[in-house]
Amino acid sequence: MLVKRTVTGIKPTGTPHVGNYIGAIKPALQLAENPERETMYFMADLHALNAVHDARKLKEMTYEVAATWLALGLNPDTSLFYRQSEVPELVELQWILASVTSKGLMNRAHAYKARVSENMEHDREADDGINMGLYNYPVMMAADILMFQGDEVPVGKDNVQHVEMARDIAGAFNRTYEDTFKLPSHVINEHGAVVPGLDGRKMSKSYDNTIPLFVEEHVLEKLVKRVITDSKGPDEPKDTNNSTLFTLYQEFATNEEIAQMKRSYQEGIGYGKIKEELFRVMNRTLQTPRSVYRELMNDQQKIDQLLHEGAGRARNEAQTMMHTVKKRVGLK
Ligand code: TRP
Repeated sequence: MLVKRTVTGIKPTGTPHVGNYIGAIKPALQLAENPERETMYFMADLHALNAVHDARKLKEMTYEVAATWLALGLNPDTSLFYRQSEVPELVELQWILASVTSKGLMNRAHAYKARVSENMEHDREADDGINMGLYNYPVMMAADILMFQGDEVPVGKDNVQHVEMARDIAGAFNRTYEDTFKLPSHVINEHGAVVPGLDGRKMSKSYDNTIPLFVEEHVLEKLVKRVITDSKGPDEPKDTNNSTLFTLYQEFATNEEIAQMKRSYQEGIGYGKIKEELFRVMNRTLQTPRSVYRELMNDQQKIDQLLHEGAGRARNEAQTMMHTVKKRVGLK
């Protein structure tokens, strides 16, 4: 059996919400169960540094996000789970890769370009407020992927270009020295349909329309009641397409429940009832993870220990790789 290696970074910024769960966490955990995949999932805390300059906040977010993945079922025995900053070889590799990466390539990064155009619109200097961490972001990401010879990299649409850049950087190194790095491919890790938030727009922290994953039960219930619907009466037939409630329901309900709900939509069911039912299935899925999450957050040493063990295993590999890389470039 040909086992592919899957590598992906999780940026510890923002409290994880239902959109993150459906779009990224759930598919990543499913992939981890696939015997044809070897998965490496890490907390990209070095990447977060260009945006988060509050030490306490970065530390807390790293725990929150790591605890979320563990609570939802990430198994650190099956997946290699670690903190990026605990594998310092990645930073060494980043420097070596930077030395074969053309600056022009980095100038074309969408994330960087978006910041530049924003500055231009506001009559500011092109690079105003842009730090080198942001500029070098794609090189660090290339190091994350290439260090471990990743085959595939699940990412959201906004990170596809970064994976293409990692490929370009690998190619540049291989041509300059000798064939060393595998060329990775991206896998779009996004749900076919966009996960809608409370107001029907894409669920996103920046729209302030999220349902955080592990709020207390009564808060979850209240949030579900706040989901915006149209003004159809209880007896009127309703369309499951473009229904925020139905889209969310599908992610948490069984196939029979989904079929039943479809019939109810056709026959007429009140929005209050649909919301009660949505809350019930969401809570059923989140109840146990919610308490595991609480336990982990009360025992951060346990999280540290799990991440540290993972980092140890990742480092073994990273050190072997760095030995080769350093020889090839003349540092050894
Ligand atoms: N840039 C990714 C994000 O915004 C996080 C990330 C860091 C990553 N390093 C990576 C993703 C390597 C895939 C591979 O979420």
